[in-house]
Amino acid sequence: MKRASWGILALLVGAAALVLPALADGGPHGNFTATTDACAGCHRPHQARAANLLTVSGSSRDLCLSCHGSAGLGADTNVEDGVFMERDGITESPAQGRLNAPLRGGGFVNALMDTDFNGTLESQPVTSTHTIDSSPGIAWGGGSEGFGTPVTLECTNCHDPHGNGTFRMLRPIPLESDQEAGVTLADEDPKVYTIAQDQYWNEFYRSGLELSRWCATCHDRYFGSSRRNPQPDQHYMYIHTTNNTFVNCLSCHVAHGTSARMTTDQTQFSASVPWPDGSTTPNGDARSSLLRLDNRGVCQQCHFGNRTSGAR
Ligand code: HEC
Ligand code: HEC
Ligand code: HEC
Ligand code: HEC
Ligand code: HEC
Ligand code: HEC
Repeated sequence: MKRASWGILALLVGAAALVLPALADGGPHGNFTATTDACAGCHRPHQARAANLLTVSGSSRDLCLSCHGSAGLGADTNVEDGVFMERDGITESPAQGRLNAPLRGGGFVNALMDTDFNGTLESQPVTSTHTIDSSPGIAWGGGSEGFGTPVTLECTNCHDPHGNGTFRMLRPIPLESDQEAGVTLADEDPKVYTIAQDQYWNEFYRSGLELSRWCATCHDRYFGSSRRNPQPDQHYMYIHTTNNTFVNCLSCHVAHGTSARMTTDQTQFSASVPWPDGSTTPNGDARSSLLRLDNRGVCQQCHFGNRTSGAR
């Protein structure tokens, strides 16, 4: 019964989205008119099921997944399986996404990726994700010293459900980030949610430098140039350059989750590198750290691979 009403809602919401200007945030998010219908998609004044008067019980993530999940009907971007689907019955402009093509962020449960770079996309269970189940984690590199700061993540730490006109409604200052100056990412026009080339390499937000700066609102100490002075304490003493349009966080990582494997190489180095605090679990495939390719395939792409790039 709930599902059916979401379906109807999705149609209304989708129809409304079509008449919005090109740079509007997608779906029911933002650009509210004086007599908007959008609030009802997520809030009920008297019959709410969760705090903040939300319509779906559980955490705000459950609300997001009621539209953006595998079983959701209200959005084309299925972030659980990491694919773009046409579920609201409305054909979007081709720029919005290729049907059944992989989403740029990977996925939270499964991801459709080509992590062994053999030219074939495969849907596989994810091996690592940003944890969105409200279990606490360490934002590695958070703060100005030490190995990181504790943060409990949900979708809304990063995204503003009310829309804000930025790229993917990313909050300039993510919730629980310790930063005071935010990073505002200009939206892209047209919006493209999917990867165009199946190999899942080298496609990300056009200003990689700004995007890296944004990731570093939580992971402060990962941002910088390899030429920066060595850090005084043992954590992050030397780093690979990450503050460059071509070499940024999303050159090597996806934002949501990856299906990359870390145990396909006989040496298994990458399956067992210690975490910044010295701990050794999780390991194995779970040490895939949101990487775009198996093992250290990402290094190979720029340095000794068959692609031309500035690096050697
Ligand atoms: C009522 C259904 C619905 C709910 C609930 C919902 N969304 Fe959406 N969202 C959409 C639709 C529709 C779009 C347009 C793109 C698409 O079809 O997937 C969208 C787009 C987005 C985008 C891309 C925006 C852009 O401008 O590029 C993000 C990010 C997003 N949603 C995050 C969230 C988060 C986080 C939540 C939970 C707080 C959430 N959504 C809840 C329907 C919904
Ligand atoms: C896509 C789902 C979605 C839509 C549409 C939406 N909200 Fe929200 N709203 C949320 C979520 C989730 C929260 C919880 C706060 C958080 O996690 O950031 C929230 C929180 C709020 C709050 C508490 C203060 C705050 O900002 O945190 C108010 C007030 C509010 N919403 C009003 C509205 C109104 C009015 C509308 C329609 C114009 C609306 N919302 C549309 C999801 C939505
Ligand atoms: C740690 C921050 C973070 C969290 C947590 C997060 N997202 Fe995202 N999300 C991003 C970033 C960054 C992008 C842009 C990725 C890109 O373009 O490569 C994105 C992209 C998206 C998109 C566009 C499709 C895509 O894959 O690029 C949607 C829809 C979305 N997020 C919804 C959600 C929902 C729903 C949740 C919770 C289930 C969530 N996000 C949790 C950071 C986050
Ligand atoms: C709101 C704060 C926040 C933002 C913004 C954020 N992260 Fe994280 N990140 C965390 C937290 C907390 C963890 C540890 C818990 C977990 O794995 O989710 C984490 C973990 C990670 C991990 C390790 C995943 C694993 O396997 O445990 C990687 C890699 C990562 N983040 C990359 C990124 C990148 C790339 C971006 C920008 C697209 C980003 N983060 C933005 C908070 C954040
Ligand atoms: C040149 C590729 C590359 C770039 C660029 C990159 N990373 Fe990583 N990242 C990795 C690899 C490889 C790992 C796996 C751990 C290892 O080998 O030390 C990793 C691991 C992580 C982890 C897990 C904790 C750890 O250190 O093991 C976090 C968090 C992280 N990266 C965040 C970021 C953020 C934030 C940025 C941008 C500021 C970024 N990374 C840029 C390659 C990269
Ligand atoms: C997106 C392209 C790209 C990827 C992916 C990449 N690199 Fe690099 N790498 C570069 C560039 C460009 C430089 C030169 C940057 C500079 O001097 O600031 C560089 C520099 C280096 C250096 C010299 C650093 C120094 O301090 O002088 C090493 C070592 C290195 N990379 C190793 C790696 C490893 C290991 C990986 C995989 C984890 C990797 N690179 C992935 C582009 C890349």
